[in-house]
Amino acid sequence: MIQFPDTFVFGAATAAYQIEGAVAEDGRGPCIWDTFSHTPGKVTGGDTGDVAADHYHRVTEDVRLMASLGLQAYRFSVAWPRILATGSGQPNQAGIDFYSRLADELLTHGISPVATLYHWDLPQPLQDAGGWANRDTAFRFAEYAQIVAEALGDRIATFVTLNEPWCSAFLGYASGVHAPGVTDDTAALTAAHHLNLAHGLGVEVLRAQVPSAQVSISLNLHNVRAATDSAEDREAARAVDAIANRIFLDPILRGRYPADLIDDTEHVVDWPSLVHDGDLALISAPIDVLGVNYYSPSLVASLSNDVYATAAPSRDDPMGTDRPARWPGSDQAFAVPQSGPYTAMGWRIEPEALTELLLRVHRDYPGTALMITENGAAFPDEIAASGVIDDQDRIAYVRSHLTAVHAAIKAGVDLRGYFIWSLMDNFEWAWGYAKRFGIVHIDYVTQARTPKASAHWYRDVIGRSGFAAAEPAPVS
Ligand code: FCB
Repeated sequence: MIQFPDTFVFGAATAAYQIEGAVAEDGRGPCIWDTFSHTPGKVTGGDTGDVAADHYHRVTEDVRLMASLGLQAYRFSVAWPRILATGSGQPNQAGIDFYSRLADELLTHGISPVATLYHWDLPQPLQDAGGWANRDTAFRFAEYAQIVAEALGDRIATFVTLNEPWCSAFLGYASGVHAPGVTDDTAALTAAHHLNLAHGLGVEVLRAQVPSAQVSISLNLHNVRAATDSAEDREAARAVDAIANRIFLDPILRGRYPADLIDDTEHVVDWPSLVHDGDLALISAPIDVLGVNYYSPSLVASLSNDVYATAAPSRDDPMGTDRPARWPGSDQAFAVPQSGPYTAMGWRIEPEALTELLLRVHRDYPGTALMITENGAAFPDEIAASGVIDDQDRIAYVRSHLTAVHAAIKAGVDLRGYFIWSLMDNFEWAWGYAKRFGIVHIDYVTQARTPKASAHWYRDVIGRSGFAAAEPAPVS
């Protein structure tokens, strides 16, 4: 039996732009993903979040669905452009009311609300002023956090300041595959620091405003492995680990940027002028729990490795298919294609890598409580004539990753909960609606919600706080 502690929380996660739709309703202003998705060529199929899963109009029905699945917690994100149409100034009451209703509905059904303040939907006017490359954006974020904390703080169990600042900084400003689509290494590193600063300022506001809430940040930590034991490949892995993981972990949990990161990137950015006095004290204010988002491990090698000359671009290279990958400051590193099995994203499935990652954080940052704030998989779901979506591949993925989480707990990691990504199919960023991560299927024509077999399975797991180690997956 894989049995989780009674206190372990099972939830599901979503994000505003990926599910809400209603982008021009009730005073919501445009955000960078509206602009980006409406730019030809940026998103598969020209998809946009204009309608998405229409959650904005179906929030009551959706919370009822969550309750029917037995969810103990729901991680959603608040859309900054709904609260402040231009990113600053006067709050928009209709936007506040929407999240207030959501929080109330969740509490009525006994579901603990976990609110992410920033899941990538930066108000467009703030982007026009430089976005995350502009230090002011961090202070605008603090003002926005203050408004949300005042309005919702009494009902939110856990606040997550930022979701995956790595993606905001490096996919947004280095590889440019995410909004705002900038390709400028200096801007990317600058954005990374300003995101850290925004987190720190957000923590300060949340502590003052809602001392009872748990405060967190969700990082997509990379399990960076060297392709071989050669000194060159190990050096490539070190450099990628610095820019992928320690650029956030170290300032937040140790109060400093890693010396090797600064060495690697000082030709790209002037760290002494970027990091002001007092920034690191703010950024390293204690958090209650660190959110870990995990999907797949990464394998990297040096360009001097012969594999580079012959291998096809990695399908799971998080920095896109550029060769070498655009890792600012580590231009000798590239992502090596990995063997399968793969999800529909082309991401290698390796649950043991999650245990390894959790143990690493536990070892290197002792005393840090962890929570899996995202884990899950896209697969090409098929709807049978009967209407059943028997996604055994997703069940197998989640079961094996929960087993990996359980192994980490057994090994002493303080792990508080698990949020499946995602509650429902949604707008998967640059992939649009082509990739489905939900345990609930969305018919984008009728907006019908159909729980997949994985949803039924997850409900049973939650009911028992675990599952038999070798039991066959139930077919709904
Ligand atoms: C994460 C994002 C989330 C979702 C999953 C698949 O990087 O935080 O919004 O797109 O990947």
